[in-house]
Amino acid sequence: MAADSDAVAAILRRRADPTQLLQILREAQEARGWISPETARAIASGLGAPITRVESVVQFYSFLHDKPRGRYRILFSDNITDRMLGSLALFEHMLKRLKLSRGEVSPDGAVSVDLTSCTGTCDQGPAALINMRAITRLDARRVDELCDLVRAGVSVAEWPADYFRVEDNIRRAGALLGSHYEPGSALRAAIALGRQGMLDEMKRSNLRGRGGAGFMTSVKWESCRNAPGGERFVVCNADEGEPGTFKDRVLLNSYAERVFEGMGLAGFVIGAARGLVYLRGEYSYLLEPLEAKLEKMRRGRLLGASICGAQGFDFDIDIHLGAGAYICGEESALIESLEGKPGKPRIRPPFPVTVGYLGKPTVVDNVETLAQTTEIALHGGRAFAGRGTRRSAGTKILSVSGDCARPGLYEYPFGVRVEQVLMDCGASDVAAVQISGPSGVCLTPDEFRRHIAFEDVPTAGAFMVFGKERDLFEVARNFAHFFAHESCGFCTPCRVGTALMRDALDKIADGRGSRYEINELMRLAELMRRTSHCGLGQTAGNPVRDTWLKFRPAYERRLIRGEFDPAVDLDAALARAREIAGREDAGAHIGA
Ligand SMILES: Cc1cc2nc3c(=O)[nH]c(=O)nc-3n(C[C@H](O)[C@H](O)[C@H](O)COP(=O)(O)O)c2cc1C
Ligand code: SF4
Repeated sequence: MAADSDAVAAILRRRADPTQLLQILREAQEARGWISPETARAIASGLGAPITRVESVVQFYSFLHDKPRGRYRILFSDNITDRMLGSLALFEHMLKRLKLSRGEVSPDGAVSVDLTSCTGTCDQGPAALINMRAITRLDARRVDELCDLVRAGVSVAEWPADYFRVEDNIRRAGALLGSHYEPGSALRAAIALGRQGMLDEMKRSNLRGRGGAGFMTSVKWESCRNAPGGERFVVCNADEGEPGTFKDRVLLNSYAERVFEGMGLAGFVIGAARGLVYLRGEYSYLLEPLEAKLEKMRRGRLLGASICGAQGFDFDIDIHLGAGAYICGEESALIESLEGKPGKPRIRPPFPVTVGYLGKPTVVDNVETLAQTTEIALHGGRAFAGRGTRRSAGTKILSVSGDCARPGLYEYPFGVRVEQVLMDCGASDVAAVQISGPSGVCLTPDEFRRHIAFEDVPTAGAFMVFGKERDLFEVARNFAHFFAHESCGFCTPCRVGTALMRDALDKIADGRGSRYEINELMRLAELMRRTSHCGLGQTAGNPVRDTWLKFRPAYERRLIRGEFDPAVDLDAALARAREIAGREDAGAHIGA
């Protein structure tokens, strides 16, 4: 106990600030694997915050635990592409070998095994996280080996390094991934252009955000620069929680200097001295190498005071880790999370460019967007705008996974046809492609001539391929479970709607669904689209709507005839009561 409070005291000495609450809890949990009531109280009292504030944060994030977890915490990635590679059978196999049920901690406190949302390794699944380190390409033999190591009590640090190898899998490198780049060159080019000159190049480039919404980056930077309020911030959105997306993982692994330099460019233009990277908890294994790269940049005067010798250009970067909440990718929820609170989307306006982190003007940009800005600094806006289409300038990195021979990253100029990507990744006999993850669109072969571009098929990057043998109903059901799990619960249409949607699809899967459920699902999808507070709820109905419209037989063969099958079999539920009352006569039966 004393050791516990000593550990908390040491953390609080470094992070004596309520905005650091999530980071404090994460670090405190590392010591014992969970946040005990004593730990929570010590943190609350150390910060002078109410205990309810601490508890609300612990309860919000999937990776924070208020009950003991195993010393080995194993989480299987439950994305549909992992399932297509056999993840569920491996998950069951591990549970059986360790004699556990899902989420249960073994009696000796050694191990727990559970499922988690997509871990961002769909190109090399089935994957899992073991004490937050990624293990890829699982098969039955590897699962047996893991069980043996757990049983023998071998510390994860001593497991074969090869288990933790995460490949970049860059299959097609374009202007960004393929170009030569010298760290510092983009910052030096921007300093030579001056703040306004760099902003003008950004305007010429027509760069639009790569995180999903496609907002014009120069407009965002300019609005933030012009917003009243002294201090301002640059935030790099590295939450990458959309199932099927993993391009930011690769950019952070192998192009981190470009991303950090992009943050520096944004800081230079808007006049910010501080940047924050919000790194998803699933990528915690990248934290140490990223910190080392930041340190190297500081030594090279690419971060810190008077960057590259430019007087008055001071900029440095901190990395914050998320803790397993997809909604924290939404920019205002992300800011809440950075401030140490549960990640619930704010009411907008005001937008972060005027009222963001700590109430100050803040630019939030995606990892890929920031990396692209280095190309603009180096080669000018016009050259950048020369690639792609009129309304979608530059290149886009796609995260390709699913039924194809060569999953991985593909960078194309915007405007590439879906069929071209399919050809390049070695996909044949394709029934559907899910673009931009569960919240995106599902395309069928008659749409494969469409273009990846904001004006046709926009995407944050996910490109999931489904072969002809796949059951698109099960795909939609997996996505519905994802949304129900990830809804933050702030607004009723999404909190209730995603749960109803999940339950209706489960009922159909059980063979008890009828046209009634389908009508309800369509009504719900529309209601959620119109009335939900943020993009999660607004798009959560897309998969079921798309697959019902495009893959109707996958639903129809599961539906019972008739209008409605109640969720409860009242007749069966009353059987015991009838028996006690001696009422076995036909008239006592409902519907008889
Ligand atoms: C539910 C939800 C999740 C999101 N997740 C991410 C994410 O993981 N990464 C990201 O860059 N943007 C994500 N966004 C979009 C962000 O809110 C924001 O638009 C983006 O970070 C802006 O950066 P950009 O202009 O560079 O695209 C998400 C939006 C919603 C509604
Ligand atoms: S739509 Fe869903 S995720 Fe968004 S605020 Fe409402 S409950 Fe939260």
